[in-house]
Amino acid sequence: MSGSEDLLELAVETAREAGRMLVDKRPVDGPDVVQTKSSPTDVVTQMDRAAERLIVERIRAARPDDAFLGEEGGTSAGVSGVRWVIDPIDGTVNYLYDLPDWAVSIAAEVDGVAVAGVVEMPRRGETCTALRGGGALLRSATGARDLQVNAAVPLGQALVATGFGYAAERRARQAEVLTGVLPRVRDIRRGGSCCVDMCSLAAGRVDAYYERGVQAWDVAAGSLIVEEAGGLVGGLHGAPAGPEITIAAGPGTFEALHDLLAPLDPARD
Ligand code: IPD
Ligand code: CA
Ligand code: CA
Repeated sequence: MSGSEDLLELAVETAREAGRMLVDKRPVDGPDVVQTKSSPTDVVTQMDRAAERLIVERIRAARPDDAFLGEEGGTSAGVSGVRWVIDPIDGTVNYLYDLPDWAVSIAAEVDGVAVAGVVEMPRRGETCTALRGGGALLRSATGARDLQVNAAVPLGQALVATGFGYAAERRARQAEVLTGVLPRVRDIRRGGSCCVDMCSLAAGRVDAYYERGVQAWDVAAGSLIVEEAGGLVGGLHGAPAGPEITIAAGPGTFEALHDLLAPLDPARD
């Protein structure tokens, strides 16, 4: 059994190295799209692959018995009970366009439960981390501070982050759901990186987040950061968060957003 602190230290060190590499080696005329996945707009660049390779190599060198789940295929079984859940670039479209909101997301699970997570945001100069039961921190050049979500924000005053999938049919439904949400909240933000959205929630920079279609690698670190910042992360009617729908907010706001979303049937394509 590994100490969560050791897992977090390795995650942070590795995410920082990958983040630096992604900044330093980003071709000036933009990365090449080497593959498209679920739709022509769901792209993979050579840099997504290079970052995932670097992350898996570094962690495997330190911990050869661990399992991996990486978005770009770095998936393998292990025997230690520890699994690393990796999104090498969350916000690839932002990275492609040289917009700053993208991140390296790494979480360590022990026996299926996330115990340590880091979201490294090199272009923001920020690192968010969390240890289960140990709180969540935001570190930047100006120092470190504890993360704390905003609680009980009335829906009409709530700034709500969301995102959209890559498939056209899903987006059409997500747009329908949005028409039920937008008139009822302060405003909507579509930042382009789910784990950056979750860090923004943990930092009180938005009041809530919801999205259909996010996968384990998108949210493993971000969900732990939100929970350790005092937030709630879940699905509809008490179900756990998952690809069907992920809702995250501070206590009070979570329930209000849930009750707004539920009749809009946001977990259906
Ligand atoms: C995407 C981003 C985006 C979200 C999509 C994700 P990727 O991840 O997190 O904000 O709306 O659902 O797939 O493809 O950039 O790793
Ligand atoms: Ca992602
Ligand atoms: Ca990604």
